[in-house]
Amino acid sequence: MRKIPLSRVFLNEEVRAAALRALESGSYILGKECEAFESELATYIGTKHAVLCSSWTAGGFLLHKAMGLKPGDEILVPSHTAFPTIEPMIHFGARPVFIDIDETYCLDVDLLEASITPRTVGILPVHIYGHPANLDRVLEIGRKRNLWVIEDCAQAHGARFKDERVGAAGVAGMFSFFPSKNLTVMGDGGCITTNDSALAEDVRMLRNHGRKSKYVHDMVGYNLRFNEIQAAIGRVELRNLDRLNEHRRRVAAHYTERVSRVVQTPPEKQWASSVYHMYVIRTERRDELAKHLQTKGISIGIHYPLANHQQPAITKLYPDLPTLPRTEQVVNEILSLPIYGELPMEDVDYVCDAVLEFFHS
Ligand SMILES: Cc1ncc(COP(=O)(O)O)c(C=O)c1O
Repeated sequence: MRKIPLSRVFLNEEVRAAALRALESGSYILGKECEAFESELATYIGTKHAVLCSSWTAGGFLLHKAMGLKPGDEILVPSHTAFPTIEPMIHFGARPVFIDIDETYCLDVDLLEASITPRTVGILPVHIYGHPANLDRVLEIGRKRNLWVIEDCAQAHGARFKDERVGAAGVAGMFSFFPSKNLTVMGDGGCITTNDSALAEDVRMLRNHGRKSKYVHDMVGYNLRFNEIQAAIGRVELRNLDRLNEHRRRVAAHYTERVSRVVQTPPEKQWASSVYHMYVIRTERRDELAKHLQTKGISIGIHYPLANHQQPAITKLYPDLPTLPRTEQVVNEILSLPIYGELPMEDVDYVCDAVLEFFHS
């Protein structure tokens, strides 16, 4: 039987050669490969700086620390996102204020203003599944109400809001290079993109024990650095990213064309260019359909079956959580179909046939 994975890393001879080159270079942490990767990432996203760190989550700690997040601060954030989006802020005693989503699964910008209190300090939109949140509105509200904006771009490397790649619009963008992401380093990794030179400098110091020179520590920092082998791999992945994203868009268009009469397919706003980190359909018969696809050798995912305001860790922490009707409904209906930058179109057709067969159409 055919076996179709949900996602697969891009791995070719150039990637292998880059890893070997770094392995034999004699330099392993924050060296020339990291420097070059940071500069290429910054150019690609369109920011002055990109600062590599050991994961998105690590970057979150560094950024919140550098920005002086403090207990009692509130941050507007969608509940429908990966749990790590809200972890760093909670460790600083700040509170996630959960916002419901719109039809793109990103935070509903029309609900933001009503959730602002005197304690609100920022907005953290998530470009979920590779589709950008409505950045114009988020930035406008941020400016008007004096709130910072940090973009969670963990699933959206190369996605565009209008003509601009996400990750350059607010104070900072944050990327993950976890193996399932559109751009990976074959392990954990992340980066922060920003135009704020002082912030970039603070984050660089904090990730490396608070120092600029080897034996002088200006701050008490962490070890959340990046390494040369993964940077060398990431550089090759970055050079291939647009081509792989274009293929994802072709796969998505094909899925939509074939299965939109039986399931709800993901919308793409006219101002958005999604990079389809996930291709997420919706149906009330989600669990049955998932089983059917699995019996056909097709891997599926649910991103995510429990929203963050429903997580035990969160319900224990906060007694007064909101009801988020759209989020609470979609978590029972969403299903992620296989998608990656080199997914063969025959496999896409095989998945479509299996979906149509389930609905007998
Ligand atoms: C939307 C989102 N934010 C944050 C993260 C955390 O990324 P990392 O695993 O690099 O810490 C992920 C990845 O799981 C994610 O999908």
